[in-house]
Amino acid sequence: MARTFAMIKPDAVQSGHAGKIIAHIQQAGFTILGMKLTQISLAQAQKFYEVHKERGFYGELVEFMSSGPSVVLALQADNAVGLWRETIGATDPAEAAEGTIRKLYAENKGRNAVHGSDSDENADIEIAFFFAGTELVGG
Ligand code: PPS
Repeated sequence: MARTFAMIKPDAVQSGHAGKIIAHIQQAGFTILGMKLTQISLAQAQKFYEVHKERGFYGELVEFMSSGPSVVLALQADNAVGLWRETIGATDPAEAAEGTIRKLYAENKGRNAVHGSDSDENADIEIAFFFAGTELVGG
């Protein structure tokens, strides 16, 4: 079974959509291995999104990601990375398919409700960024 890292971003937590998104995660067939509510510090956000640091939106992105609580999750499923990316839809909600989490709850490309890892390798890195092994079911 594969794993992915998911995050319910501050916009979706603030607007009260976290519960519905967690239900959506379970209906999509994921097993939740780890989950917690946390307010990411600015330094953590800068490190997590370091790959985007040369991009024009980086400052806005890290400020937004540290602006309020997020829910971080470690998810398990067959093809977890691909299944989660399919479940959340395109980065820009205007381009996201009907029924996807971003189509349902995202405001725009920045305030886009959820994050998902883009590869198995990054999934492991991102899970380890937020969770100690002992915090995961079966860990
Ligand atoms: S791109 O252009 O397709 O490479 O961008 P993408 O990889 O999809 O986006 C990377 C993350 O940056 C966020 N993002 C933004 N934040 C603020 N403002 C703007 N304009 C913006 N554009 C993209 C986007 O939400 C992605 O965050 P994650 O958490 O990885 O989904």
